[in-house]
Order: sequence, then C-alpha cells, then structure tokens
Amino acid sequence: DEQQYDYDVLVIGAGPGGYVAAIRAAQLGLKTACAESRETLGGTCLNVGCIPSKAMLHASEFFDAASNGTMAKMGIKVTAELDLDTMHGQRRDAVNQLTGGIEYLFKKNKVEWLKGRASFTGKDSVEIDGKAVRAKNIVIATGSSVTPLPGVTVDQKVIVDSTGALELAKVPQHLVVIGGGVIGLELGSVWRRLGAKVTVVEYLDQILPGFDGDVRKEAQKIFKKQGFEFKLSTKVTGVAVNGDAATLTVEPAAGGEAQTIDADVVLLAIGRKANTDGLNLNAAGLSVNARGQVEIDHDFATSVPGIWAIGDVAPGLMLAHKAEDEGIAVAENIAGLTGIVNHDIIPSVVYTLPEFAGVGLTEEAAKAKGEIKVGKFPMMANSRAKTNHEPDGFVKIIADAKTDRVVGVWAIASVAGTMIAQAAQAMEFGATSEDIAYTCHAHPTHSEAIKEAAMAVTGKPIHI
Ligand code: FAD
Ligand code: NAI
Repeated sequence: DEQQYDYDVLVIGAGPGGYVAAIRAAQLGLKTACAESRETLGGTCLNVGCIPSKAMLHASEFFDAASNGTMAKMGIKVTAELDLDTMHGQRRDAVNQLTGGIEYLFKKNKVEWLKGRASFTGKDSVEIDGKAVRAKNIVIATGSSVTPLPGVTVDQKVIVDSTGALELAKVPQHLVVIGGGVIGLELGSVWRRLGAKVTVVEYLDQILPGFDGDVRKEAQKIFKKQGFEFKLSTKVTGVAVNGDAATLTVEPAAGGEAQTIDADVVLLAIGRKANTDGLNLNAAGLSVNARGQVEIDHDFATSVPGIWAIGDVAPGLMLAHKAEDEGIAVAENIAGLTGIVNHDIIPSVVYTLPEFAGVGLTEEAAKAKGEIKVGKFPMMANSRAKTNHEPDGFVKIIADAKTDRVVGVWAIASVAGTMIAQAAQAMEFGATSEDIAYTCHAHPTHSEAIKEAAMAVTGKPIHI
C-alpha cells in the first residue's frame, strides 16, 4: 500500500533523460530519488558525450584556424603550437562544472541521489547495491552504450570508443574511424584539426545515415575537401593490434577481395545500443524488443503500470534533447498532467565546421508521403557567411505542395545547429513557407538564408 513506498518516483539513471525527469518530478511536489552508478551525475552526455566532445571541437577549431591559414587571411599572424594537456584540461573543467551543476540542482530541488546500480526485484521495487527501495513509479532512463563489433576489441589505447577518443594522450598519425556517423565525423574532425590523417570506413555507400540525401552528399564533399579519406561500402572484418599499432582488414560490403589498412588509433563508432544489462527487467515483468529497447506507449508508459522509460533506452533518436524533453513529459504524466513530446520535430545536429542540421522529414521521406515543393538557398549568397569566409553549405526547406506547410528543414552552415531552432519552432507552430518568408530576419545573419530558402519554395529569393 501507499504507506510502504520510499518514494513517489524513482528514476534509474541520471543522464539528460533521468536527471531532468527527477528534477521536474520534484518540482511537481513528488518525493523523488535518482539512482546513478557513475561517480558524477549527467550521464553519457555530460561525462563522455555531448559536452566533452564539444569542448574538444571548440578548442580544435581555434587550433585549426590558427594553423591552416584562416586567421592569417583575416590579418592575424600566429604560429600555432599545440598544448594538448591544457586542451584536455579545459575539457575536464567544462565537464566538472556541468556535472557539479546537476548535483547542485538535485540538492536545490530535493532530489535524493542514490549512488549505485539499480536492479529490479519486483514491479515497484529495486535493489541499489544491496539496498532495497520501493517506489510508486519507476522511470527507466539507463541510456545507451557503444555497439560492439565482433573482431574489434576496445582497449581504449589502440582501439578506442568515443570515450577513449576524447582522451587520447597524443595526436595519432593515422586515425581510422569505423562508422561514418555523427561520432566518427565529430571526433574525426577533432583529431584531423590537431594534425592526424583520418580515414573513415563506412559500411553503407554514404555517410551520415538519417540525414537528407543532399546534405549527406554535400557533407562528404566538404569533409573530403577538409582532408578526410572515405572508404565507403566497406566492412571491417577484423583489427589486429601489435604493440601500439593496428592493422585493419576490410573488404567490400558486397563481398570481394580483402585489403589491409594500418593505423595507430582505431575509433569504433558504429552506433549505440540500449543499456538494460543487469537491470533484471524480468523481475518487473518487462522484456526488451528486438533492438534491445524498452517499449513504451505515447505517454512513456511501459506495459507494466507504474514503470516508465525515456531517452536512449527507449525507441527513437538517441539525442540528449529528445531524452530531456521526454524527462519533462514523463514526470508531468506521472503527476497527472499531460506531458507530450512531438517526435516528428526533433532537430539533429552534427557539430563540425560547418555544422549539419535538420528537423522533420528528409526530401526522400517527404516525397514518399506526397507532393512537395522545395526551396534552396546557398550560404555562398548569404552576406554574413560570405563576410565570415564561410562559403560552404545551404538551407533547404521542404513544404507540402498543397498546403505550403513546412515538413522539413535542412541546413549546412557554420551555425546551422543554432539556426535550426527557428525551423523547429516554426514547424511546431504549423508554419507555411510563406510564414517564414514574410518574417523579418535581422541583417546580416546566417538565419536570413532560412528566409531566402522559404522565399525560394513558392517564388524567388532576392540574393541569388
Ligand atoms: P545516458 O546519458 O546514457 O544516461 C544514463 C545513465 O544511467 C548513465 O549515467 C548510466 O551510468 C546510468 N545507469 C545505467 N544503468 C544504470 C543502473 N542499472 N543503475 C544506475 N544507473 C544506471 N546527443 C546530443 O543531443 N547532442 C550531442 O552533441 C551529442 N553528442 C554525443 C557525443 C558522444 C561522444 C556520445 C557518445 C553521445 C552524444 N550524444 C549527443 C548522445 C547523448 O549523449 C545521449 O542521447 C544522451 O546522453 C541520452 O540520455 P539518457 O538520459 O537517455 O542516457
Ligand atoms: P551513427 O548511427 O550515427 O553512425 C554509425 C555509422 O556506422 C553508420 O553510418 C553505419 O552505417 C555505420 N556502420 C554500422 N556498422 C558498421 C560496420 N560494421 N562497419 C562500418 N560501418 C558501420 O552512430 P555513432 O556515430 O556511433 O553515434 C551514436 C549515436 O550517438 C548517434 O546515433 C547519435 O544518436 C548520438 N550522437 C549524437 C551526436 C550529436 O547529436 N551531435 C554526436 C555524437 C553521438
């Protein structure tokens, strides 16, 4: 009965999904605890994901600008010298400040942190490192971890995953990335900027799965121009490590003759999988789907009343902001309010230079659904991008041919990740391309390219 519960809400995992759910639940007056086995709060995102990768991307961008002539072109003569220890130090500082910030927010909102690994013992009970806890509601927010590849054993020295790739003690001569997805391109960019030769081995015939076809094509061109090498339609069949060097064996995805590639660091980044090992879902009457995820309904409820799931452990995009929004919504649903996440409008961003961003449908998916109109505008014709010497990229707006309602927006620009927020908001408000075209945008900004692409949907842009 009610009296015997230790908490109204127990959240398992303190990543962007879990910590946000816990804070919102507490804000709504529910007695809340959050189990987290890591030494610090914040999950993958704050500790070994979004935040440290952006810290390295930002710092390496300065190094690149100083050493590749970008600064010299603007009249700044510098001789760049890499101090990798300091670069790693500022990364650790950013992580420490942000994870510490979550600890402060837990205290402020009276969320109790139960340190340790949680494992179900029943439908409303878990054990956390030997301690029994009962809760009226349990939110599974255990996140994800690296998908392993048979024949490729991560040792975090020669063969690393994203966590090891963030912390390399020296710049590799040749970094080979297995997987041409977000992690491979972001962390590949970091080490390329710092001086490594980078080769990406990708199973499919294109990089960046999930992105719009035009964007994927253009991305490959841009990364190639930056010095990336791509081996597409290629599979890795094994990696042999010999001391501090590795030899990859690859062959065409469709089958054929094997080849070898030598590397001093190999980054395995072929996707991530839901974390349910050790959760003992059976004891709660739960199981996982074919992809290893915990299935949920529209309200984030699992098939067992009182047990909910959000973030990377549940189906959908594996993104921090998706997890956070689900965290808020699940807490609101538990509190009897109506928590909703519009999964059709979740932006995706690759934080390289330029950035690649999109929200809504790709042109391919939109076409498959019905008649569309597409407007495109190149960043080359955007005055701010031009002034900043950032000619690469474009904005593309996809609208329903009949209603003019915007169904997808894609952008390649130095600040595409920031620009895409206005597209997401416009789509949330049900905007037509005309609505965007007739919205006054400040000049000179990169965002004007969104307005011009909207003008191109039904008529003509001005600047091209
Ligand atoms: P997680 O953040 O994975 O958190 C789950 C937590 O649960 C972990 O701390 C784990 O220790 C804990 N846990 C698991 N099992 C138990 C248990 N049984 N008991 C107690 N605790 C447990 N996304 C973006 O949107 N933008 C980015 O820029 C971005 N960059 C990324 C860069 C990298 C290198 C990586 C790897 C990921 C990146 N992501 C990014 C993805 C993002 O990190 C995840 O989508 C996000 O962290 C998912 O949040 P979550 O709360 O579902 O899970
Ligand atoms: P990913 O799914 O983005 O890309 C993996 C790539 O590996 C795909 O192109 C896939 O075709 C390829 N691949 C799969 N098996 C392969 C094999 N055997 N050999 C060669 N290639 C193979 O996964 P990634 O890059 O590991 O990132 C995991 C997730 O983390 C992302 O999907 C994303 O959700 C999240 N993330 C988000 C970031 C962001 O939002 N900026 C940054 C980093 C990660």
